[in-house]
Amino acid sequence: MEAWESWVEGACADFARDYGGPARWVALAPGRVNLIGEHTDYNEGLALPCAIDRQAMVLAAPRTDRRVRVRAWDLGEAGEFSCDSLARQGNLLDFVQGAFFAFSERGIEPHGFDLAITSRVPPNAGLSSSAALGVALAAALDAGLGLGFSSEDWARLAHRAENEFVGVRCGILDPFASALGRAGHALRIDCRTETTDAIPISGAELAILLVHSGVERRLAEGVYDERVMECREALEAARRAGIAPTSARSLRDLELDQLSELEGALEPVAFRRARHVIGENARVDAFCRALASGDLDTLGVLLAQGQASLREDYAVSTPEIDWLCAAGPECEGVVGSRLTGAGLGGFTLHLVLPDHLESVQAQISEGFHARFGRRPESLTALPSRGAWLEARSA
Ligand code: GLA
Repeated sequence: MEAWESWVEGACADFARDYGGPARWVALAPGRVNLIGEHTDYNEGLALPCAIDRQAMVLAAPRTDRRVRVRAWDLGEAGEFSCDSLARQGNLLDFVQGAFFAFSERGIEPHGFDLAITSRVPPNAGLSSSAALGVALAAALDAGLGLGFSSEDWARLAHRAENEFVGVRCGILDPFASALGRAGHALRIDCRTETTDAIPISGAELAILLVHSGVERRLAEGVYDERVMECREALEAARRAGIAPTSARSLRDLELDQLSELEGALEPVAFRRARHVIGENARVDAFCRALASGDLDTLGVLLAQGQASLREDYAVSTPEIDWLCAAGPECEGVVGSRLTGAGLGGFTLHLVLPDHLESVQAQISEGFHARFGRRPESLTALPSRGAWLEARSA
């Protein structure tokens, strides 16, 4: 039995105990780690995440009325609402209501459900615990309403729920990675066309080590919104200067060879934000090529360039992240290190030759302790399948 199978069995038993009847559908959706392509999604650019082997789980049973009862076991919380009066409450129920909102925006009127939620994706750590929950909710409602939607649909519904109902501005990277991930692969996402390609990443040759910077990622939301605005303003300025055509929709429309022209025309901060996005898009494709040819040196260089760009040009690193990303590559067996996700906290990513995992983990932990006075949390992740559904017999 795989680890998630016994987890599902235990959760189904808890569901039956709490609700007095069985769960009919179980949806699982993973968190993600982004290998490269950071802060590109809302600029219609490129990203390269993997879904990881830690999921959010939503269990569902239909009701004949319009009530929705929710148990969030990890938080020890329970609540309920009516499908007919959705209203934000500033807690986890917003994600659940957001899913109902996204379905009704598509012209579908869900009936009531009994739902339970649990998750193995570390929260507020840059591994997309909220997208995992959103995708699992979309999948569970889809099954419960007998709609037969695709994984892309789940991703879009989750994205809409989080942006328009919960009110957290984010791009499509996280829900797409969670819904469409493939075992042993990274996912190259073109956020303009919303298309994906699975890129093999052999777990045998590269292990993914995640080391927490000790800073909660949620503290960074204001900065995220600021970066989204700054990118828009940079594009506007490039248009005004005649560098981007008036039809340009995003920084994706600008190329590396326009950088010197941009530098002359844009304010320094706007230029640096644009330079990060334009360079990062190019790094995604270079990274895919290096993965295909097994060129570990180039992977390391690209990770270092990405990290330097996030620190200097995008200003989303922290002293802890800087330290971890400098210390990683100094250990034997580390291919490269980088922050992952929005930055300003959460986990850092280290690609490591599997034989060296233990020693790298120990060295980084030792050094971090000496520098910051605490041991960092760390974990390994496997590139894993995206969201899936389990039907349970009544
Ligand atoms: C967060 C957002 C994503 C993406 C990343 C940065 O994870 O939710 O949409 O913008 O930051 O790459």
